Amino acid sequence: MNAAMYPGSFDPITLGHLDVIERAARNFDRLTVAVAASPRKKLLFDHTERIDMARHVVAHLENVEVEPFDGLLVAYAKSRGIHVLIRGLRAFSDFEYEFQMALVNRHMDPDLETVFLMTKEDCSYISSSIAKEVAGLGGDLRNFVPDYVAERLRDRLLT
Ligand code: PNS
Repeated sequence: MNAAMYPGSFDPITLGHLDVIERAARNFDRLTVAVAASPRKKLLFDHTERIDMARHVVAHLENVEVEPFDGLLVAYAKSRGIHVLIRGLRAFSDFEYEFQMALVNRHMDPDLETVFLMTKEDCSYISSSIAKEVAGLGGDLRNFVPDYVAERLRDRLLT
């Protein structure tokens, strides 16, 4: 089976993430969206909340599952028998960080291949950080996150 993993913090999952997930789901038999615990990052939503939002948003995609992981990504991918990592690229500015991460992961596990998917242009300005900023200022979230996530953001930041 042609399986891939899409790892991230997903704090929260955005329309940009969903675009990458839908693209990957069309090109691989099975996609695991791997939600990192990321204990060292200052996040708005806890691990359970981030997983819940991601599961909700991908529920229409039959070959996509959402799973939590903690610790090294390469170890988790190996434990699941997955050899392809998906990462999204929005703009040239993403490249340096992504390139470094791909090289580190390849260094730790040469059998793990990172595949970059470009988001559609409409999503190139979207990030979880921007969505959180817009939400905190009471802005319209329709172009940034799915409705379910917009509600969670408003609950967290405006009530
Ligand atoms: O959505 P993000 O925050 O850019 O995702 C980054 C993530 C979670 C994929 C990355 O930080 C990660 O793989 N964390 C797990 C720990 C790890 O394996 N680190 C070494 C690779 S940089």
